[in-house]
Amino acid sequence: MSNFLTSSIGKKFILSLSGLFLIAFLCVHLALNLLLIFDNSGDLFNIGAHFMATNPIIKIVEPILAIGFILHIVLASILTIQNQKARPIKYARRNQGGNCEWSSRNMYILGAVVLIFLAVHLYNFWWNIKFPTLGTPLAETTVDGVAMEDTYLLVSSLFKTSVVYCLLYILGGIFLGLHLTHGFWSAFQSIGFCNQIWRKRLECLAKIFAFIIAVGFCIIPLYFMLGFAGN
Ligand code: HEM
Repeated sequence: MSNFLTSSIGKKFILSLSGLFLIAFLCVHLALNLLLIFDNSGDLFNIGAHFMATNPIIKIVEPILAIGFILHIVLASILTIQNQKARPIKYARRNQGGNCEWSSRNMYILGAVVLIFLAVHLYNFWWNIKFPTLGTPLAETTVDGVAMEDTYLLVSSLFKTSVVYCLLYILGGIFLGLHLTHGFWSAFQSIGFCNQIWRKRLECLAKIFAFIIAVGFCIIPLYFMLGFAGN
């Protein structure tokens, strides 16, 4: 077992499992974030954010999510370095074409860009929510008689006041989509769930999924940037 985990195949397996776990997180995160644009009063999003912040199950999932991210980044780095050492001379460009698409050849770069986006993103929101005393204190609001943090105000003020951040979040969504175009089906292949027929289906599904995630995350800053939420 320990041999498997230290082998390249074992590392790829765990990399893929952590990737699928992060994909599940992204689906929940996007669904919750879309509440931002379905209710301009912010009540719906605040109720959702308050539920996520106070639910005991989510509190258990949070550190697991952090471990998932760390595992994914560390294993991707190790495998990329190992691959480069094993193949010091790059293939000629003509050998890289065909079904080996641009995103699959640049997974590490795409992942690194998403990571930079994530660092800025966590500083914008997560940091301010978790450590309000160190950053800008969070405003409070009351929804249906329940007092809670005004997370809607935190997110909407950033997008309403900064075109730069809106563009950064749009780019983040696009790069995340490109990363998933390959990552989604490749993860299934690495865990052994892929034959000739399923590979084609999963490749197609990956493109649709990546498109939905990219458009979903981009639409939120765009909504605020274009003034649909008012001033
Ligand atoms: C329009 C785009 C996005 C918005 C408005 C948004 C909003 C938020 C907010 C408000 C939080 C803080 C939640 C809390 O701690 O209560 C958060 C946390 C987080 N976001 Fe996003 N997010 C967006 C895109 C993304 C993307 C694309 C990723 C992944 C690449 C991502 C990954 C995370 C992670 C990992 C956390 C920390 C989760 C936790 O431990 O609670 N977000 N986001």
